[in-house]
Amino acid sequence: MKIRTAVIPVAGKGTRFLPATKEIPKEMIPILTKPMIHYAVEEAVLSGIEQIVFVTSSGKTAIEDYFDRNLELESFLEKNNKEDMAKEIKRIGSMIEITTVRQKEQLGLGHAINCARDLIKDEAFAVILGDDLVRGNNPVTKQLMEISAKNNNSSVIGVMEVPIEETNKYGIIDGVPVNGSDKTYMMTRMVEKPDPKNAPTNLATPGRYILKQEIFKYLNEIPRGVGGEYQLTDAINAMAAESDVYAHIFEGNRFDTGSIRGYLNATVEFAMMDENLKGMMLEICREKVKKYE
Ligand code: UTP
Repeated sequence: MKIRTAVIPVAGKGTRFLPATKEIPKEMIPILTKPMIHYAVEEAVLSGIEQIVFVTSSGKTAIEDYFDRNLELESFLEKNNKEDMAKEIKRIGSMIEITTVRQKEQLGLGHAINCARDLIKDEAFAVILGDDLVRGNNPVTKQLMEISAKNNNSSVIGVMEVPIEETNKYGIIDGVPVNGSDKTYMMTRMVEKPDPKNAPTNLATPGRYILKQEIFKYLNEIPRGVGGEYQLTDAINAMAAESDVYAHIFEGNRFDTGSIRGYLNATVEFAMMDENLKGMMLEICREKVKKYE
């Protein structure tokens, strides 16, 4: 079954990026010349997604505007012989159909996804966290869609291996390899931020999911969990107890751009990967090492 819709929750407060996020949505903070959210939406488009549902909150309209046409800017650029940039601005505004739904209170990721339920109808859908960027040759959402299609259109959680001492920063899954695979697992349970000595595996869930519509039944039933929030992890756990949920180690480099370290890392890496910026970035880094080391 084709996955047509991706839900991208962007209603969080982005407190780690204050004071910038007092007035700018975290997702609009740029990495080089593109806002963070651009990379997430591009991943969805490259994966064949046809519709994005943004779960938003007040102060986030800049995200919708970014993916809308700006005819005045396009014609200004054309008049000033900047046709290539005019084309790029038009492309961004026409990239994909966008729908938004409000999360009126920030009651957690599970609650945010549940806000999209009326827009999903009877279909499975993708979830992409806009502050977790993954770079690679094959878009990670597409990789998970392929695993879902191979396994009876089941739910699939994207996972990555992390150092065991870092399990307390992530949701960690437990599971059984599928047909001897070292990449795909049948999930048995998921534990939120376990202490390394209690972690069942080192397979962490950084924010990519294919979820069957039945997840909404569990999202409706779960009580508030860790931090008093409705946790997506709790709903997935309940679903895994009653039906098949897979976990798949995806290919690609993941950047936690919701944290300052991950943001800096992505900025340097993306510049290094750009032929026009690589030399400049290397020169700057060498100068800084000499000056500050
Ligand atoms: P985070 O906890 O990483 O994001 O949630 P945050 O709250 O924006 O940032 P900090 O921790 O205060 O710096 C992960 C994702 O889930 C969304 C966020 O927007 C982010 O993309 N989210 C989280 C919601 O949409 N609603 C919520 O109630 C919670």
